[in-house]
Amino acid sequence: MSISLQGKTILITGASSGIGAATARACTDAGMNCIITARREDRLLQLAKELGDTCIPIAGDVTEPGFNAHLIDQSNNIYAVFANAGHGLDQRLIEFDAEQFKQLFDLNVFAAVELASLAATQMVNKKEGHILLCTSCLSKFSVPQNSAYCGSKAALEAIAKSIRIELRKSKVCVSTVHPIGTTTEFFLESASRSGKDSSEFEKNTPAWLMQSPEKVADAVLKCLLKPKPEVWTSFTMRLISTLFSAFPRFAGLFTR
Ligand SMILES: NC(=O)c1ccc[n+]([C@@H]2O[C@H](COP(=O)([O-])OP(=O)(O)OC[C@H]3O[C@@H](n4cnc5c(N)ncnc54)[C@H](OP(=O)(O)O)[C@@H]3O)[C@@H](O)[C@H]2O)c1
Repeated sequence: MSISLQGKTILITGASSGIGAATARACTDAGMNCIITARREDRLLQLAKELGDTCIPIAGDVTEPGFNAHLIDQSNNIYAVFANAGHGLDQRLIEFDAEQFKQLFDLNVFAAVELASLAATQMVNKKEGHILLCTSCLSKFSVPQNSAYCGSKAALEAIAKSIRIELRKSKVCVSTVHPIGTTTEFFLESASRSGKDSSEFEKNTPAWLMQSPEKVADAVLKCLLKPKPEVWTSFTMRLISTLFSAFPRFAGLFTR
C-alpha cells in the first residue's frame, strides 16, 4: 500500500536547479507542500512562484553553521527531507587542494548528515518520517580524478546504512538516491571549481549513462510513496556497480 503524501511537507536542499528543482515540481504535483532551499535566492523565488502557495523558499548556505537548524525551525511539521545539495570536484591526486576537499565534504557529507539529524529528532517523536540522502552510483565504485566526490558519496551511503537501522524502530525511513549521469549544472560547476572550462567527467560519461533530472525526481517520488533503502534509475548501472564491488580488479576497465 502506498503512503498518502497529500498535504505532507518535504524539505528539499539544492532546489535552485537540477534534481532538487525537478523533485520539488514532482512533489508539488503529488500534493505535497515543499520547503525549497539553496543559495541562489532569485532561482528559488522563481521556482516558488511557479509552484504556488504550497511552496516556501528559504535561501541560504547549508554549510553555514546554524543554517540547517534555522531551516528546521522554520519548517513546521516536516514529513520528509531530501538532502540533495552537493557538488563535485575534477581533481587529480597530484592537484590535491585540502581546502577544496574539505569544502566538498562539508557540503556533500556533513551538511546532509546534520540536516538528517535535526529532522530525525522531530520525526522520531512523531514516529513517522522519511530521510532521503542524495548519493550517486559513484557511492558504490570510483572513477579517476574525482576521489573527493566518490569518497563523499561512499561516506554518505555508509552513514545512511547505519542510521537506517538506528531509526527503524521509530518508523522513520532512510533512503539513499543513486543517480547516474544527469543533465544538470553539476558537471559545469565541478569543472569551474577545479579551474577548468569543461568537465572531463562529463566528456568521459557515455550518452547511455545520462538521464534527465525529471527521471530522478520521479524515482524519488515513488520512494516517498513506497519507501525502500535505495533509489536507482538504471538497473544496468546497479548491476555493474555490484560486479565492481565483487570484482574490484575490473572497476577501472570502463574508465579512460
Ligand atoms: N548530475 C549528475 O550527474 C549527478 C549524478 C549523481 C549524483 N548527483 C547528485 O545529485 C545532487 C544534485 O545535483 P544536480 O545534478 O542537481 O546538480 P546542480 O544542478 O548543480 O544542483 C546542485 C544544487 O546544490 C545547491 N548547492 C550547492 N552548494 C550549496 C550550498 N553550500 N548550500 C546550499 N545549496 C547548495 C545548488 O544551489 P545554489 O548554487 O543556488 O546554492 C543547486 O541547487 C548532488 O548531491 C549531486 O552530487 C548528480
